Amino acid sequence: MSLLAPPRTRARSRVGWTWIALSSLAIAVYAVTPYLTTPLHELAGDAVGLAGAYEGKPAWVLSALYVHIVAGGIALLVGPLQFWRTLRERARSVHRSVGRVYLTAVLVGALAALALAPVNSAGLVGLAGFGTVGVLWIWTGWRGYRAIRTGDVRSHQAWMIRNFALTYAAVTLRLWLGVLMAAQSPWIESGADADAAFRNAYALVPFLSWIPNLVLAELLVRRRGLPALRITDGGYARTEIVERVVEKVVER
Ligand code: HEM
Repeated sequence: MSLLAPPRTRARSRVGWTWIALSSLAIAVYAVTPYLTTPLHELAGDAVGLAGAYEGKPAWVLSALYVHIVAGGIALLVGPLQFWRTLRERARSVHRSVGRVYLTAVLVGALAALALAPVNSAGLVGLAGFGTVGVLWIWTGWRGYRAIRTGDVRSHQAWMIRNFALTYAAVTLRLWLGVLMAAQSPWIESGADADAAFRNAYALVPFLSWIPNLVLAELLVRRRGLPALRITDGGYARTEIVERVVEKVVER
């Protein structure tokens, strides 16, 4: 946000940041803490999260799950700090150190997520959705890191907005699950109905949890005048060549 932004825009952006920070903190505490404080078999018995789906799985799956949960939780906790302008401007070295912790957590969390994707609870749709977002999570983080290493601050900001929009999928996934379960509630009359409703909802979230986030991130990037995503660089280059050829023909 520029220093010259009008007060109403600044106030809106503060409200947005506060919501993102508090909701990230809430999900990091609510979704992660049980796995760190209670054995998996007890969580499974109490039907907490997806613990039941992981109980008895091979050691490498459980290791990937715990590594993912811890790294994802760290990324979600520290990510919002990086968008806090005062901290960025007054304590540049803190921003740099927290940024390194954040990007390491993203890399580790995403590699573990990619290991979990083939065994996830939503089957093929989960493999495609979680797999794609796992790759994008690493790619956008790498672009953000590379941009700042080359001194391109505006591209760094744009890529980190996109990257955190993907980290925030951990929040939106759970919000969408709540909305989709509530939408089916008139038809839930038994435990079996509730199971079916959860499976329906869970079949949608591998994509629904992050695609709208990326669209909103891109709108924010454009509204802030940061470099927009260009998928057709090759196309632009060709257009320039065509334009030059046309100019030459017209000159003659
Ligand atoms: C966009 C990046 C992310 C991807 C691709 C991803 C992917 C996954 C996958 C594939 C699973 C296994 C789900 C299943 O079996 O169906 C999972 C579980 C889990 N993830 Fe992530 N995740 C991401 C971000 C995060 C973040 C930032 C957190 C931090 C809160 C997090 C916390 C969890 C937790 C707690 C579980 C266990 C499931 C539960 O009990 O609800 N994930 N994730």
